[in-house]
Amino acid sequence: MRIRDHPILEFKRGKKIHFYFNGKKLYGYEGESISASIVANGIHVLSRSLRYKNPRGFFCGIGKCSSCLMNVDGIPNVRTCITPLKEGMEVRTQEGYADLPSVSFRGRKKKKIETDVLVIGAGPAGLTSAIEAAKQGVRVLLVDENPRIGGQLVKQTHKFFGSKEEFAGKRGIEIAEILGRKVQEDENIDVLLQTTAFGYYENGKDNFHLFGLVKRVDGEEEVYKVECKSAIFACGAMENMLVFPGNDLPGIYGAGGVQTLMNVYGILPGKKVLMVGSGNVGLIVSYQLLQAGAEVVCIVEAMPRIGGYHVHAAKVRRCGVPILTSHTIVEAKGKERVESAVIGRIDEKWNVIKGSEREIECDTICLAVGLSPSIKLIAQTGAEVRFIPEAGGYVALHNKFMETTKKGIFVAGDASGVEEASIAIVEGKIAGFSAAKFSLGERVEEKDIEKHLRRLNELRAGPFGERGRKAKEKILAMMERRRWDIRRTV
Ligand SMILES: Cc1cc2nc3c(=O)[nH]c(=O)nc-3n(C[C@H](O)[C@H](O)[C@H](O)COP(=O)(O)OP(=O)(O)OC[C@H]3O[C@@H](n4cnc5c(N)ncnc54)[C@H](O)[C@@H]3O)c2cc1C
Ligand code: FES
Repeated sequence: MRIRDHPILEFKRGKKIHFYFNGKKLYGYEGESISASIVANGIHVLSRSLRYKNPRGFFCGIGKCSSCLMNVDGIPNVRTCITPLKEGMEVRTQEGYADLPSVSFRGRKKKKIETDVLVIGAGPAGLTSAIEAAKQGVRVLLVDENPRIGGQLVKQTHKFFGSKEEFAGKRGIEIAEILGRKVQEDENIDVLLQTTAFGYYENGKDNFHLFGLVKRVDGEEEVYKVECKSAIFACGAMENMLVFPGNDLPGIYGAGGVQTLMNVYGILPGKKVLMVGSGNVGLIVSYQLLQAGAEVVCIVEAMPRIGGYHVHAAKVRRCGVPILTSHTIVEAKGKERVESAVIGRIDEKWNVIKGSEREIECDTICLAVGLSPSIKLIAQTGAEVRFIPEAGGYVALHNKFMETTKKGIFVAGDASGVEEASIAIVEGKIAGFSAAKFSLGERVEEKDIEKHLRRLNELRAGPFGERGRKAKEKILAMMERRRWDIRRTV
């Protein structure tokens, strides 16, 4: 369902175009992703699970799960949520394992790029990394697999808190535009969008890192070998799943997936939504759903208290949305998509209290239950990765300069521990500065980044910053221990 009236956003849809979905002619708009157009046409089954053939629908919307993989113009396993729709495209769902491609990949272009700093991810952390590195006079290549610059910012319509330095009072979408313009205008920065960094390789040369990238444009693919002196991983995070019967039914979305459909493409995921999680993301997305015209039936929260800011909770409560603490989702029901959900009260051991279950009618369930850092690629470099619960999962250990245990490999933002966008902005500045200096062969002293470190301390002060503060303390302590262990062995 397309959103026509919105209190904040104006959806400038491109030219109306046609495409084929399993042989049926459908319409979408230029600038939409393939799967967003399919959902706008009222189709929710995008793929089937390999073993049981269970239907799967749109989930993350940022290319980080597998529920939207389809065959597009003969190419299998295309992530249709990050692939723009084109006139006349032939899109087909895949049954079981994907067939081999019906198009030839022989003779595709391979290019070599040499740069000083490679930045992977153009969210707030990657953008400020690139800007700061370029300020030091080095060449920067910034890549992102999404077609738009901004990472998660492109769908955030609420105004940010914090200070002027982190764009307080501006909406996420505006911040993405400001930073996006800066990188596009900077002569030292080259930007490649719709480009995935897929592998890290040993290249036999000291002081150089080798990466494989693939850029997809109009069904064509270009493969790049990128040689760089340092690299910054600003790959963000992916949404967490919850375990309950029916959790893979179409109509169950990650909160980021809902935001992408609704705020980027102007498409409502459903009419009646159950929100799971009352952290800031759950509260903000609930309010945005109301603004877009959906009904939020209720918000369930497993903790005995609301997780997010009370100002956000008060806003949704004023709109009549109940927030049920010590409650969870027990089951999602439906055949080809969500038709209802069972929720129940839980005790202090998180067991559902018998007799407290009740079924509520809804067509959409939105999971806002946290994020896990994206570390698959950084783990390939050999940087030491550890499980830090407060950071949201596995992260690459790093020091104050955001450098990992692998020389010349840096990390910033959610990929270094899940926090929020203002912190990603500041961490990006530190990583960008440090990576540039590394590429120039210059030493970085703590005094060079003192003001950013102070700002990080301020942002992490208070109860909402406690988790991030603890995560970084643990990471730094592990780095310190590691330094002593290495000294002892030498
Ligand atoms: C639903 C939701 C709501 C949120 N609401 C708020 C909020 O209200 N306020 C707030 O401060 N924060 C909020 N956040 C968190 C905030 O958006 C993140 O903390 C912030 O965006 C992190 O920035 P980042 O640059 O580290 O990652 P991201 O913004 O996630 O950017 C990472 C980028 O890396 C790209 N990428 C990943 N892997 C590759 C690869 N292999 N090759 C190429 N590109 C790659 C991705 O496409 C993406 O664009 C929210 C997050 C979500 C998911
Ligand atoms: S990868 Fe497309 S919905 Fe997750």
